[in-house]
Amino acid sequence: MIDVQHKQTPFQVCLNREWVTVQQPMTVAALLLSKNTLATRVAVSGATRFAVCGMGVCQECRVTVDDQPHQLACQVWCKEGMVIETGGANASD
Ligand code: FES
Repeated sequence: MIDVQHKQTPFQVCLNREWVTVQQPMTVAALLLSKNTLATRVAVSGATRFAVCGMGVCQECRVTVDDQPHQLACQVWCKEGMVIETGGANASD
């Protein structure tokens, strides 16, 4: 859980092998939206997928976070030094 009332110092996360600055508390899905990264994974059919529900139900927002596949981007808060991968082999099934 994160205390969204406290102002935080901006921090960096690694998104698809590029370090980006997170200015305020946000989920990984919000970060992806803010960086215009609108594909969290690729389905078996080859279609790209992205967050639909934003509340942990649809499972379309699965990404790899710190080498842990199938993390729900809409439910995970960004943390300093976090490594986020979208659309990779680990996130495609
Ligand atoms: S957007 Fe639906 S589970 Fe994350």
